[in-house]
Amino acid sequence: MCGIVGYVGDKNIESILLVGLERLSYRGYDSSGIAIITNGELSYWKKTGKIRELEKMLQTLTIKGTLGIGHTRWATHGEPNELNAHPQMSQNKKIAVVHNGIIENYLHLKEELKERGFFFASETDTEVIAHLIESNLTSGTLEEAVEVSIQRLTGAFAIAVIGESDPEKIVVARKGSPLIIGVGKKEYMVSSDVNSILPITKEIIHLEDGELAILTKKSLQIKKIHGPFITKKPQHIRWDAITQEKNGYDTFMLKEIFEQPTVARHILSKIIQPDLSLSFKHINLSKSHLKTVNRFIIQACGTSWHAGLITKYLMEKYARILTEVDISSEFRYRHSISQGNDIVLAMSQSGETADTLACLREAKSKFLKVLSLVNVKGSSIDRESDGVLYSYAGPEIGVASTKNFIAQLINLYLFTLYMAQIRGTLSKEEVDASIQEIKKIPDYIDRMLAQKETLKRIADKYYKSQEFLFIGRGVNYPSALEGALKLKEISYIHATGYPAGELKHGPISLVDASLPVVCIAPKTATYEKMLSNIQEVRSRKGKTIVIATEGDAEIAQQADEIVYIPKISEDLTPILVAIPLQLLAYFIAQNLQCDVDQPRNLAKSVTVE
Ligand code: M6R
Repeated sequence: MCGIVGYVGDKNIESILLVGLERLSYRGYDSSGIAIITNGELSYWKKTGKIRELEKMLQTLTIKGTLGIGHTRWATHGEPNELNAHPQMSQNKKIAVVHNGIIENYLHLKEELKERGFFFASETDTEVIAHLIESNLTSGTLEEAVEVSIQRLTGAFAIAVIGESDPEKIVVARKGSPLIIGVGKKEYMVSSDVNSILPITKEIIHLEDGELAILTKKSLQIKKIHGPFITKKPQHIRWDAITQEKNGYDTFMLKEIFEQPTVARHILSKIIQPDLSLSFKHINLSKSHLKTVNRFIIQACGTSWHAGLITKYLMEKYARILTEVDISSEFRYRHSISQGNDIVLAMSQSGETADTLACLREAKSKFLKVLSLVNVKGSSIDRESDGVLYSYAGPEIGVASTKNFIAQLINLYLFTLYMAQIRGTLSKEEVDASIQEIKKIPDYIDRMLAQKETLKRIADKYYKSQEFLFIGRGVNYPSALEGALKLKEISYIHATGYPAGELKHGPISLVDASLPVVCIAPKTATYEKMLSNIQEVRSRKGKTIVIATEGDAEIAQQADEIVYIPKISEDLTPILVAIPLQLLAYFIAQNLQCDVDQPRNLAKSVTVE
């Protein structure tokens, strides 16, 4: 993963790099560093921990300079410590490199460089790039040395390089990892994403794979690696930089949980037209094409995958379209069978998840159409898809996905109705009735959030538990997976999600008086079966935290704790169920004093495979 940033111009270099890194911290936050050239001399600073640690260290120094690069890391090769943090330096300490990606042949290159007398200070794959550039920087320019060096690299990279030999230049290159250049007035910025550039300029250029650029205060040159110079026109970005404010909440996660009613209202107003027709403006595939689709192949990871699993239930039920859901990292390496009229539906909040992006590219190479559901506009998945549904969740900063999950579910419910209309599998009356039903969702989410104190009380009671089990059926089986993921990723408590019907095939042996079991049991087609499963848990003294439909007095007798959701059609229950699951995980993590916004070992955007 990792985020890289670079700046050349007259502004305060230290603060530009630090603000850029802060905005990139969703890509990793286990260590960070910057390198700056001042009066021809290269200096660098690195620190383990979150970016505020680097910031604290730099506060004690006076840093001047007009050119520099920075990096925020998510460790792949080598533990998070200062030696492995970037920038990685060449042996003579005159070249600094920041890198996002993985160099697959680094061990081979390392051996070769060692034989040539290079000494390695870190365990990173990046250090080989710095040494290679030093070894190739004999009489030519920095960009020539970079170009020759990257020819030796296999794997994925976006790099920014500075060196004392050419103290007025930043050289950047890309293969497989994103890199964006901001074009200002006598200043240029480079970064892994657009948002960190927007405070400086709204004129941006997306560097494509196989391109290299040389940035100085006065000029920007772009060329194909081992090819000619090319001209690329900056694109004007119309949106503003995402402000990362907590608006009075303790954490981004809590703020984002409480934004969900607004998000839901926003999505409905974007898609549902006054005459109840559904509008997907960026879908870019004709109705006649959609009418003949043979199968949807959903590609996603993590929470987005859970939203995909729920979509399968809906798409097959309403639109009668065969729908497969694959975890992207699995799909890529199995020999799946596809046909021309299959559509790949890539789902990703960030639009940068490496595995999902790779699946998208694989699908396109097989001439399949790719439709995406992304939250981040301008992301790689957005730009490379044939058509897009935007999830309209607004910026999601907390590493645990919350509001984007319900945004995905609302979008996909509406998209399923749209497909059912096109295919004629639902009548207009049925579609209209479903639209009227989903319009209740924002108010119902408000009602769920009003139960915050109940969830806090439950969290206070169970937060010391060693593990949790989550069970559900049908559309709420993925809800159980999502509840377990939320809890484990932010509280570090082991949690498992299971289809309730599978309990007796193994996991029931875990149940004893110390195990809290979150039972998702709203009134749906499988309600009676869930009741039996809850009884099976209680017979073994498991503690039941039950999510049920308002007015269900029967189930309350089977529950140690109960949380109610308003009565709504079965297929919309996962949206409401998600709220108490988020709050439960949140308050448990808070009790355990975990950093919910930036949990250990994670990153918001997973840009390595
Ligand atoms: O940006 P994406 O939706 O592609 O991200 C996928 C997963 O990395 C993400 O959902 C992850 O599992 C979250 N931490 C879950 O809360």
